[in-house]
Amino acid sequence: MGCQSEKAQEFRVTPIAENEVDPEVWGKVYPIHYEMYKQSQEPTLAGKSKYKRGWDTDKIVYDKLSQYPFLGVLYNGFGFGIEYNEPRSHFYRVIDVQEIDPSRTKPGGVCLTCKSTYAPDLEAKYGPAYYNTPIDEAWKWIPEKHRKLGDSCIDCHNPKDASLNIRRGFTLVKALQTMGVDTKNITHQQMRSIVCAQCHVTYVVPRDKDMKPTGLFFPWQGSKLGGISVENIIKVLKSDPSYAEWKQAVTGFKLAFIRHPEFEFFSNNSVHWNAGVACSDCHMPFKRMGGFKVSEHRIMSPLKYDMKACLQCHSQTPEWLKQQVIAIQDRTISMYLRAGYQTAVTAKLFELAHKSQESGKQFDQALYNKAKDLYLEALYRVIFIGAENSVGFHNPTEATRILGDAVAYASKSESILRTMLAKANVEVPVNIDLELKKYLNNRGEKKLNFKPEQEFKDPFGTQQNIEALLK
Ligand code: HEC
Ligand code: HEC
Ligand code: HEC
Ligand code: HEC
Repeated sequence: MGCQSEKAQEFRVTPIAENEVDPEVWGKVYPIHYEMYKQSQEPTLAGKSKYKRGWDTDKIVYDKLSQYPFLGVLYNGFGFGIEYNEPRSHFYRVIDVQEIDPSRTKPGGVCLTCKSTYAPDLEAKYGPAYYNTPIDEAWKWIPEKHRKLGDSCIDCHNPKDASLNIRRGFTLVKALQTMGVDTKNITHQQMRSIVCAQCHVTYVVPRDKDMKPTGLFFPWQGSKLGGISVENIIKVLKSDPSYAEWKQAVTGFKLAFIRHPEFEFFSNNSVHWNAGVACSDCHMPFKRMGGFKVSEHRIMSPLKYDMKACLQCHSQTPEWLKQQVIAIQDRTISMYLRAGYQTAVTAKLFELAHKSQESGKQFDQALYNKAKDLYLEALYRVIFIGAENSVGFHNPTEATRILGDAVAYASKSESILRTMLAKANVEVPVNIDLELKKYLNNRGEKKLNFKPEQEFKDPFGTQQNIEALLK
């Protein structure tokens, strides 16, 4: 491919001890990389991105529930409905888990899997206990010096020669094997994405009858590399009740969840994936440092490096490229709001149905089952796009397809519910009150706390438009 970026300068290879976790030790051999890596503790340049502001010099952490209020209804009953923030850099991986509302880390040690560099060692050492030991105890397994350590070189590199390496074999290698991928045949360019797929993927934490985690796997069964579809993921999530990990308060349904599916979404037939572009091409662009040509190790949004990554291949101006990204994101968010509010309306109708049932109403079970199935299809799609961190950019047409389907499924579910309720003589108002304030203000200490800087500029006025329709 003509526009593949040139290779970085070869570095003198000095073997580092096997399983050396300490980035300071790596830094003695690769001082330039260590310096770039350490920069990721600085606040990100929030103003340069519209949607991924991360955190600012004022230490504002951007909160998804304030930006997308319908999430308050949908995630109520789960940690995500209490506190759900935009990501920060790898440096804060562990710190953010320690600081988040404890409702989010209830599952236990399993939460360390894409956070702590030590996760693979702990999994090997503690086996089943790794997954379900309370997180406060699991921290103590990590050497004291590194209890706040986010990422380290060894997450992505082999200490012997600094080549790219999969450290999290216990999850990723198994998942690739499920799709028939022989890890020996992965190309170097694929590795530049695969190292990220150790964590920027969704996963399932199966539970035992006491809701204790029993393991962790990626729901890639039935998919192939380059085609892990949301349909296949949902099929796996629905296939076994032990994959349910929370109870949605508004509907009472026991549900699975989807988290940061960057790799799945990007690699599913996107223009850039098909052109052989890797995560690292856009998030770790080449730059000059100390006379060397190196990969940027302050890993962040390409908007925050003024589109320099894109200029490795594209000849347009940075302004034009940024405008493309924002245009894609605005359209994605408009659809996301449509799909999210529609799904929340349907959820409230289930609430009404369940309340009517308690007061003795009988429903047509076939209609109820159909409505529930369609609702789950819609909800998992809304969760998928909301958790994917590029706001549609990684695969724009796929985002539109998924959200369009979500709107269709949720609307169909609503109309079936209305028919079902009417048949049972339950009166249903034309407009359903989502009671957003009730959900958003009822989050303990984390209750809605808007700061003017956090005010969300809604593209196309979609949100006002929807809220007006709901009145
Ligand atoms: C060991 C797990 C792990 C690996 C490997 C990993 N990430 Fe991350 N990444 C995370 C976590 C966790 C966060 C969120 C941290 C937080 O919010 O505290 C994150 C955040 C990010 C962010 C947001 C940064 C910001 O400034 O807000 C970007 C961009 C990113 N990762 C890209 C990548 C790329 C590209 C790769 C592969 C080269 C990669 N990551 C590999 C776990 C990982
Ligand atoms: C063609 C370029 C490109 C490729 C390839 C790419 N990304 Fe991105 N990524 C972006 C852009 C653009 C954004 C949106 C950034 C923004 O809005 O500030 C983004 C956003 C993100 C974010 C959120 C960043 C933040 O600041 O919160 C993460 C995490 C991320 N990408 C990870 C990945 C992973 C993992 C891969 C590979 C599976 C990947 N990206 C592939 C361009 C790319
Ligand atoms: C999230 C994954 C990740 C982490 C963490 C990481 N690197 Fe890298 N590193 C990469 C990728 C991807 C490349 C590009 C490799 C390639 O294309 O061969 C790279 C390249 C390199 C190179 C080769 C020269 C270059 O710049 O392309 C060196 C040396 C290196 N890293 C050292 C380090 C050191 C030292 C640390 C820790 C302080 C570190 N890396 C942390 C992903 C990572
Ligand atoms: C490693 C090379 C590479 C990098 C880096 C890269 N692109 Fe691309 N981009 C491509 C290729 C190749 C295509 C497909 C061009 C074609 O087929 O006409 C493409 C297509 C696109 C398109 C058209 C997409 C579509 O759906 O038709 C946009 C918009 C775009 N890139 C924006 C960006 C932005 C913004 C960045 C930086 C965040 C970026 N690209 C980084 C190589 C790259």
